[in-house]
Amino acid sequence: MRKNNLVTLHSVCSCGVASSVLVATLALLPISAFAQAPEAGRALAERWCASCHIIDRAPAAATASGLPSFPAIAAKATTTKQSLDLFLSSEHTRMPDFSLGRYERNALADYILSLR
Ligand code: HEC
Repeated sequence: MRKNNLVTLHSVCSCGVASSVLVATLALLPISAFAQAPEAGRALAERWCASCHIIDRAPAAATASGLPSFPAIAAKATTTKQSLDLFLSSEHTRMPDFSLGRYERNALADYILSLR
């Protein structure tokens, strides 16, 4: 009886270890389908867009780059999910081509529109 309990306890333990390894592995994956837009879009924007654009409503520090901030982009009447998706898919702007996938474009557009 006591031995059985030990065995049960042991398997619970190793299961816990296995799931924390899994969690750690998931955390190492690139922004993936597991994350939720617009939170995922915020993380992408911080990584890829913040060097040029102000990406927050209340930036800690602002650069006078003259580029539209994300809140300003969100505030434009012409900005829609479709217009953002189109802009982020095209390669003919002065912006670098990030080769964003559909998931990234979606997350970024959701994040920008969440600033409305
Ligand atoms: C190297 C600087 C640079 C980076 C990095 C950058 N942008 Fe831009 N962005 C620009 C410039 C310059 C413009 C002005 C439009 C143009 O000429 O292409 C612009 C314009 C835009 C617009 C259109 C604004 C409008 O008025 O409708 C959107 C949307 C946008 N950027 C989103 C993003 C997103 C999302 C990212 C990150 C994935 C990003 N940008 C990263 C330079 C940058």
